[in-house]
Amino acid sequence: MRILAIESSCDETAAAVVDDSMQVHANVVYSQVDHAAFGGVVPELASRAHMRSMVFTIRRALTEANVTWEDLSGIAVTKGPGLVGSLIVGVSLAKGIAMATDKPIVGVHHMEGHIFSNLITQKIEPPFLTLLVSGGHTELICVEELGSYKLIGRTRDDAAGEAFDKVAKLLGLLPANEVVAGGRIVSEIAQKGDPNAINFPRSLVGHTDFSFSGLKTAVLNYVRNLPEEERRSQLANICASFQLAVVDSLVSKTMQALRKNAKNFNAVCIAGGVAANKCLRESLRTQAEDNGVAFFCPDFEYCTDNAAMIGAVGAHRLSMGLVDDFTLDASPRLRLC
Ligand code: KG4
Ligand code: ZN
Repeated sequence: MRILAIESSCDETAAAVVDDSMQVHANVVYSQVDHAAFGGVVPELASRAHMRSMVFTIRRALTEANVTWEDLSGIAVTKGPGLVGSLIVGVSLAKGIAMATDKPIVGVHHMEGHIFSNLITQKIEPPFLTLLVSGGHTELICVEELGSYKLIGRTRDDAAGEAFDKVAKLLGLLPANEVVAGGRIVSEIAQKGDPNAINFPRSLVGHTDFSFSGLKTAVLNYVRNLPEEERRSQLANICASFQLAVVDSLVSKTMQALRKNAKNFNAVCIAGGVAANKCLRESLRTQAEDNGVAFFCPDFEYCTDNAAMIGAVGAHRLSMGLVDDFTLDASPRLRLC
């Protein structure tokens, strides 16, 4: 069984081929460069870029996996949440392919894809706790069973990845005309800094909800009051101290949720773009294992947006006979639970 998976919820045009055991046979991700000059993703440009690149991306995935249309047993596609125009490109194309090849279609929740990114390379028995940390989401989700989720905590304002991106921008770290994740740049610079140099605030201490907008403002105020030269010499310390504040907050709330429900969880996992952050991976691993709970994180290539994780959900749903019909639509505000 081979599934073609399509992901187009934001600014990554992605296609993958996955089999029924969630093994990945091709994983092609094209990161759009169209937005670099604008300091953020421009929805209209994103839809158009998906239109231009998706067919080639799919062709490349099929070629790399050495499969033809006849070999496919289904099409999985991200139906939401995300940018509506971008989602419509993926969903429409997936429906066209499903109709022309007479294969079943499965609409997938993007964040369920992130949860499944952990299952591509490792076996984890539910119930487990997942900290979902991306550019648009920061949520603690109890995976009761695959397909059954309970929300334990979420951000009340900015997502963790959004905070990284905004801090990268206010520190002037995003190179013009280049597409680089703000979080990646901040974490690279942070490696050379002292994480205890500046005591940035931790919000909603003792709560399983998150808040990062106060932290972002604290960084802004700190930087505003520094002379230009000191700002440059302090850059690594600012990045390291900011990163530690985010990681502390994510880890302490995850551990709190774990302790509250420890008997119910077999493991704790992280997923989403921010799960690529090495400081977060190591900190949560240490804390979870010290508390006797197994820790899992996805391979780096499956942390940020990709279609392999969408294919993994598709494989699971197809195996359960859970398919969609052609009324499948893009749902920009779709909730997981
Ligand atoms: O999951 P993702 O690719 O897209 C969304 O669904 O939002 O996550 C993108 C986010 C961005 O905010 C980016 O800055 C962040 O993941 N990110 C990181 C790192 N790599 C990517 N944040 C912190 N440290 C990283 N190494
Ligand atoms: Zn994502």
